[in-house]
Amino acid sequence: MVSKSGKSITFLPDDVIVQVSHKDQSVLELALRVGLPLNHTCGGFGTCGTCMVFVRKGLEKLPPRNEIEAELASDRGFSDEERLCCQMEPIDGLVLEIPESKV
Ligand code: FES
Repeated sequence: MVSKSGKSITFLPDDVIVQVSHKDQSVLELALRVGLPLNHTCGGFGTCGTCMVFVRKGLEKLPPRNEIEAELASDRGFSDEERLCCQMEPIDGLVLEIPESKV
């Protein structure tokens, strides 16, 4: 799972470094591919909020929330760091913390 080169994303709290594959359309897809315990009750449609993680590094690299995520974030009162894995592009260098309750 640890890559020596190429794009990678780090998942806390266990410091799991995952190499981004060109097939990964979202961070959720990438996380599930390597067996990380990320909930995704709605199946990645951006409506359940269970795939939320805290962006600890790289927030400035992420595009703004799309419409689907923006609506849920506003309903739930998410902070800027709280983002949905199913709506997030797998961008190199992100450090994402899976909330303790999900690990
Ligand atoms: S999987 Fe439901 S919001 Fe992301």
